[in-house]
Amino acid sequence: MRKVLVAVLVAIAVYAVATKFHGSADVAIQQPVPSQAQPSPTPRASVNPNQEINDRFAKQLSDKIAGHENDPAEKVFKNIQIQVLKNVPAGRFIRIMNFGYSRALGVACTHCHVEQDFSSDDKRPKRAAREMAATHKMINDQLAKMENLDLKPEQRFINCSTCHRGAINPNASQ
Ligand code: HEC
Ligand code: HEC
Repeated sequence: MRKVLVAVLVAIAVYAVATKFHGSADVAIQQPVPSQAQPSPTPRASVNPNQEINDRFAKQLSDKIAGHENDPAEKVFKNIQIQVLKNVPAGRFIRIMNFGYSRALGVACTHCHVEQDFSSDDKRPKRAAREMAATHKMINDQLAKMENLDLKPEQRFINCSTCHRGAINPNASQ
């Protein structure tokens, strides 16, 4: 039990250092830095029951863009509208989908995507996710402006998991 606790604390420390030296392009997959008052490893949604199937989709799509992993997502994919995702390298974009979006909600790619055409906007949850990305950015912009927080502006951020914690409806996960 003690070993586990030590391992968790070490992981948090390593993570806090890693995120400190990280650029902001990764915003969608950054995890919140745990505050001293709350040394818990959550709110990271760590296990997705759909991980295996998602890894298969991610591999299929990665194979399809082979050689273009480092090109900007908006050049490689057909329908990229979220501003902060446009210049993300295509390979990392797929990892954000897998370990950011899908894991935060605990869903399979097909919760948001039409299996045969990932660029399609036919599924409502995909359109909702775009609106959520705007909400996510708005909250982070607001956090950065706050004057009475202890953490430095670059250390304050939320991500999809901060609310969702592995559930489609954050309110149902309490
Ligand atoms: C919670 C909803 C959601 C989930 C789950 C999700 N995606 Fe996405 N995905 C989106 C949204 C929204 C976009 C469009 C982003 C934009 O407009 O910038 C997108 C775009 C994409 C695109 C670009 C398609 C194109 O040609 O325009 C790919 C590829 C993709 N997702 C792969 C995946 C994979 C692989 C998974 C599962 C591992 C996944 N997505 C899970 C919401 C989701
Ligand atoms: C501030 C809290 C919060 C944050 C941050 C947040 N969400 Fe949400 N999200 C909600 C709430 C509340 C709902 C409504 C729940 C529902 O409709 O069941 C929701 C609903 C959704 C839905 C609709 C699900 C469905 O199937 O109807 C999607 C998709 C979604 N969020 C994706 C995301 C993604 C992707 C991110 C990160 C970019 C994100 N959310 C960040 C609170 C949040």
